Amino acid sequence: MTITQTLSGKRILLIIGGGIAAYKCLDLIRRLRERGATVRPVMTRAAAEFVTPLSVGALAATKVFTELFDRDDEQDVGHIRLARETDLIVVAPATADLMAKMATGLANDLASTILLAAGSPVLVAPAMNPHMWRHPATRRNREALARDGIRFVGPNAGEMAESGEAGEGRMAEPLEIVAAIEQVCAAAPKPLSGKRIVITSGPTHEPIDPVRYIANRSSGKQGHAIAAALARLGADVQLVSGPVSIADPDGVTVTRVETARQMQASVERLLPADAAIFAAAVADWRAATEAADKMKKDGGKGPESLPLTENPDILAGIGTHGSLRPGLVIGFAAETEKLIEHATAKLKRKGADLIVANDVSPDSGIGGSGVMGGDRNRITLLSQDGAEAWPEMGKDEVAERLAALVAERLSGSER
Ligand code: CTP
Repeated sequence: MTITQTLSGKRILLIIGGGIAAYKCLDLIRRLRERGATVRPVMTRAAAEFVTPLSVGALAATKVFTELFDRDDEQDVGHIRLARETDLIVVAPATADLMAKMATGLANDLASTILLAAGSPVLVAPAMNPHMWRHPATRRNREALARDGIRFVGPNAGEMAESGEAGEGRMAEPLEIVAAIEQVCAAAPKPLSGKRIVITSGPTHEPIDPVRYIANRSSGKQGHAIAAALARLGADVQLVSGPVSIADPDGVTVTRVETARQMQASVERLLPADAAIFAAAVADWRAATEAADKMKKDGGKGPESLPLTENPDILAGIGTHGSLRPGLVIGFAAETEKLIEHATAKLKRKGADLIVANDVSPDSGIGGSGVMGGDRNRITLLSQDGAEAWPEMGKDEVAERLAALVAERLSGSER
């Protein structure tokens, strides 16, 4: 049976307290790792009376931390780093003693010191005798911990392993703890939470008369994929889309436009933002005058020429003008020749921080119908620091990587 990687990449610090339920931690570690998490175990001295650090370390496939004043450990990782380099701290089993320490802020061993220095969410799985769980002191402590934002899973009612007494106090089962961990991790803030990003995508249509327009082959696939990837990272994504035949991405606010001038007006209305990404293939030119009625063949002859006028450059306008410029501006450059040279010129001329350059020449080997509209892309990323060529990959993967880059650039920055 394949197990879904619900905790892929999550770093869990597991603090094992001294209670008979500590044996269940061996199974818990196994199940967390099966779901893609890495587990760093910390054991109290009492915990080592119930399970050996050797078995815990073997299941976690890593070192087990036990002592606060171990010089090797402190030099190696240190209790502050242990507390900080983690996505979630799980205390299981949480004894009455550990909960009391947590509630009063006592820090006299490695486990309690880490808990006081914690920067990530903490989930507690209490396990104790029913009398101890019901005691007013424990009740006060758990209420204080809940007020501090500590989450609880269990305890369950049932028979105690050591005394045979029945009542509430049994530690939650490993799979219940896993489910609670998954819930906490899913609710954790995402890297682009609170960030607003405006993105353009698709072609523009520039009317000649009520039935004809100037357009290009852009499908909107890449821009829409980037919008979706940014939304998955928690951003408030405002997508301004030209006419496309693909579906709106999930979790994104879409403004539909036809022309370059409508696209520009929408982008300006949606600013300020933390970042703006210009993935649209905006028509550079529009008909100088739009005929009010369908242009007719005049005795078999068409118009001798179609006067054009230049459209505003949306990216250059935002990239080079002060007040509305977001902290991060990303442009695209679709080129059929001299990719780096042309894209570098666009980086400077349009005031972008990054240009995503792609080769749309028919002989690039990429693309569906001719030069644009395929599902794959081979891009070169240009910035002041130079060019970085990415291998050919699907447009979804390009989008994931670009969204991760945006998250990295925006981390810690204010609008
Ligand atoms: N762009 C824009 N508004 C325009 C034209 C382009 O915002 N009127 C943006 C595109 O969305 C893209 C970047 O500018 O991010 C470069 O677009 P591209 O069509 O490659 O460049 P052009 O300025 O049109 O240059 P050229 O036609 O000479 O290649």
